[in-house]
Amino acid sequence: MIVKLKVFVSAMRLEATGIMSVELTPVDAATLPPFSAGGHIDVFLANSLVRQYSLMNDPTETHRYVIAVLREGNGRGGSTFVHKQLRVGDIIEVSPPRNNFALIDDAPLHVFVAGGIGITPFISMAHHCRAHAIPVRLYYCAKTAKTTAFVAQLQGLLGDDLVVHFDDGDRAKSLDLAAIAKAHEGAQFYCCGPRGLMQAFTSVTSQLDVPLLTEDFNPAIANGDTITAAEGGFDIVLSQSDTTLHVSAGETILEALKRANIEVETSCEAGVCGTCVVNYSEGEPVHNDVVLMPDEQERSVALCVAGCRSKKLVLDL
Ligand code: FES
Repeated sequence: MIVKLKVFVSAMRLEATGIMSVELTPVDAATLPPFSAGGHIDVFLANSLVRQYSLMNDPTETHRYVIAVLREGNGRGGSTFVHKQLRVGDIIEVSPPRNNFALIDDAPLHVFVAGGIGITPFISMAHHCRAHAIPVRLYYCAKTAKTTAFVAQLQGLLGDDLVVHFDDGDRAKSLDLAAIAKAHEGAQFYCCGPRGLMQAFTSVTSQLDVPLLTEDFNPAIANGDTITAAEGGFDIVLSQSDTTLHVSAGETILEALKRANIEVETSCEAGVCGTCVVNYSEGEPVHNDVVLMPDEQERSVALCVAGCRSKKLVLDL
């Protein structure tokens, strides 16, 4: 069963062009469940829209969650809803916090690379690192000062450990990612922001063999760049009911189940929450989620985003 918390929209603030922060406070209790630096929540908006947002306030706070939402013209509707319809005084529901982007405990130095709205998880991480005297450096790249939020807050937290870089939207002026990766020997690197930035930094860090964690809340399938089915589709066998269904090419397992009126509990439908994860006993899934660890992927699959390389996938359903 999905746990949902009722929260009150207690403040909204335009932080920069197109970026709205939203403060959420508890309705039914004095405090909210605690979160760790880098954590996020699912936000249940109207019309079955569920979106994931990083928590950007100090993780020691339990009286509120603060998120920030970039208005995306070509988005999937969540950001437009927040900017145009959500208002102070509304009551909405959120999930308890989760964390797929936690700080690595024993790293001697944490180096964050943020692009645009990808800054948000690093704000809670910056709070945590400063409170615990953990060495940190943050590279924050964005187009222009007008579209860049939270700089003053981050300067107050990080001082000289913050580097803000404006590229005016010109690739020729992009951050030198290789130089950053080479400049911090022994560091643990983290990256969040536009997919192009994360792909570029992933490529740089893998060439240099340095550790990197990334966070991406955009469903892989929506970006059209993943294998969602074996060529020509594949079959799923539901072992508990001995039922076989066909997943057409380009379709998700979840869509095939819904088509057959088989209900499965879901939340994000983007491979980031773990609600739809089930075990499988046969087949070769393509895991497009960001929640399952490699050892978990050997037995479990997220139905909302997984594809399959084999012709048959046997699910414990
Ligand atoms: Fe969230 Fe599938 S519903 S991972």
